[in-house]
Amino acid sequence: MPSYLVTGAEGQLGKCFKKVANEFPIHKLIFASKNKVDITRPKTLKIFFDDHPLDGIINCAAYTQVDQAEESPEKAYQINVDGIKNLIAFAEEKTLSIVNFSTDYIFDGTSKSNYSEDHTPNPLNIYGKTKYKAEILLKNAKCINTTFRVSWMFSPFGSNFVKTALNNINKKRNLCVVDDQKGRLTYGIDLARVVLSNIDQNHFFDYDCYNYALMGETTWFDLAKKIKLIKKSNCEIIPCSSKQYFTRALRPKNSILDTSRIETHLSLKILDWTSALDDCLNRIEGKI
Ligand SMILES: NC(=O)c1ccc[n+]([C@@H]2O[C@H](COP(=O)([O-])OP(=O)(O)OC[C@H]3O[C@@H](n4cnc5c(N)ncnc54)[C@H](OP(=O)(O)O)[C@@H]3O)[C@@H](O)[C@H]2O)c1
Repeated sequence: MPSYLVTGAEGQLGKCFKKVANEFPIHKLIFASKNKVDITRPKTLKIFFDDHPLDGIINCAAYTQVDQAEESPEKAYQINVDGIKNLIAFAEEKTLSIVNFSTDYIFDGTSKSNYSEDHTPNPLNIYGKTKYKAEILLKNAKCINTTFRVSWMFSPFGSNFVKTALNNINKKRNLCVVDDQKGRLTYGIDLARVVLSNIDQNHFFDYDCYNYALMGETTWFDLAKKIKLIKKSNCEIIPCSSKQYFTRALRPKNSILDTSRIETHLSLKILDWTSALDDCLNRIEGKI
């Protein structure tokens, strides 16, 4: 049975992998939080490996505080770039595969068409720069690997827009939400299932990068409106521009990922974002 280390196990995506792990008894998944395996400390990888022989690493460890990264770029580089260098060196030495996750924030959002894997990146913020550097490192690595470039992730775990909006919609009379950024949502539970259903296929690692996101583009404003509708809330959702809603890090205005490569290569039928949202809200409320 192939054995995979899931790093960053206490993060949003790590918890999604944990949630669906029992649906995939054909893999042995070993979950490690930062306390056990710190990707910036190679020694912790070695100690872990001595106890748990592995076939691959699913790396959910990352520095993901997009605005904070503008103030602490060293920290973001240390985890997202140096951490990946450590994982690559380790995987090359032990002949392991790596699945990593990247972001739509490697793009500047000025394209008139959707972003394919071959589009030239031009990150607007430090977080995007670190994630793009990691992509390049992996592209040049000798271990087999692939990167899932995902956008606007949500799930029942960690902090994400859906959970924050739900909380605010329940509490507030009105809510200003940015309406001038377009993108595609990614559901962490669905992403984990896609990785685990395909990781053992021979052709999974044929490409060094796949875009992955749910079907249907949206804006944060439309997403908040949809949550309000489902929750039958009276909270007024007010559109605002990115300029009005100041954030330290710039974000792309259009980061719609083109997912045709993964749909064709892995014969995937990707879920619609509204059904994934229903599933997520039901899980948050303990209905499933
Ligand atoms: N969330 C999104 O909207 C989004 C969008 C596009 C792409 N992605 C990518 O998807 C992946 C997963 O994101 P996520 O939302 O699950 O992030 P997350 O919730 O912030 O989880 C990241 C986890 O990594 C851990 N970590 C940090 N430094 C570490 C280190 N040195 N060694 C080991 N673990 C470390 C964190 O622990 P602490 O919290 O204790 O530091 C946290 O548990 C990331 O690669 C991210 O860039 C996310």
